[in-house]
Amino acid sequence: MHKALLAALLAVAFFVPQSSSRAAEGPALPAQAWSFKGAFGTYDRAAVRRGLQVYREVCAACHSLNLVAFRHLGDVGFQEAEIKAVAEAYKVKDGPDDAGDMFERAGRPSDYFPAPFANTKAARASNGGALPPDLSLMTKARKQGPDYVYALLTGFKAPPAGFSLMAGMNYNEHFPGRQIAMAPPLAEGALTFADGTQSSVSQMARDVTTFLSWTAEPEMEARKRLGVKVLLFLLVLTGLLYALKRAIWQKLH
Ligand code: HEC
Repeated sequence: MHKALLAALLAVAFFVPQSSSRAAEGPALPAQAWSFKGAFGTYDRAAVRRGLQVYREVCAACHSLNLVAFRHLGDVGFQEAEIKAVAEAYKVKDGPDDAGDMFERAGRPSDYFPAPFANTKAARASNGGALPPDLSLMTKARKQGPDYVYALLTGFKAPPAGFSLMAGMNYNEHFPGRQIAMAPPLAEGALTFADGTQSSVSQMARDVTTFLSWTAEPEMEARKRLGVKVLLFLLVLTGLLYALKRAIWQKLH
């Protein structure tokens, strides 16, 4: 009876076709060697810094980062003075003041990254009708998120012969439907990295993806550290319980 049930379950698990909506969409996503992969992975601090620079100098023209406050940068090694400097480079809307008017002031560490557009309609109007999504959780919102974002940023190509590209769209084999309203945002040497790293397209794509992986999962490192502690604790506990069991049962042998 049980065997039959097990066999039926296994049959279901193996023979129901896996839902693979992506398969029809484009080439498989190459898995990248991210520093934050694996049980002990951490965010490469230098890559996060460069990635922040790529976000600020390129992506921020169109994409918001609504869930990230400047002060959060402290969790990935930014010093207080650096955070202040990043924040002060932005104008933030505040108010109302005593006269009831809204006003602009320099950003503070407690502020969140201001969005590039006042609202989604303004964002669409500036982007040919397409909405540049908020990037805070992007690497978690897509399957194989970091690999996908990297592949997307480096995957712009000339469309193959016979492909009908709609006006204002760009060919990208990793985007579902293969045409995306975002123009290729990265160009070789588009910016000068503060740490002197060459700003190739793939370097900028890797770095901004590392940065966005941190914004999506800022708690990842703490979670992994806790996991290791729990496993160590369980290991010690197992040893103690085993010793206890032997001590108790010894008299009976
Ligand atoms: C000039 C404006 C512009 C810039 C600059 C820009 N994007 Fe976009 N991006 C868009 C638009 C518009 C879309 C929506 C595309 C669509 O729906 O066809 C988009 C979509 C995306 C998506 C979502 C793809 C998906 O699966 O839905 C990601 C990820 C992305 N951009 C990342 C970036 C990154 C990272 C940068 C900086 C390196 C960047 N973008 C720079 C306009 C921009």
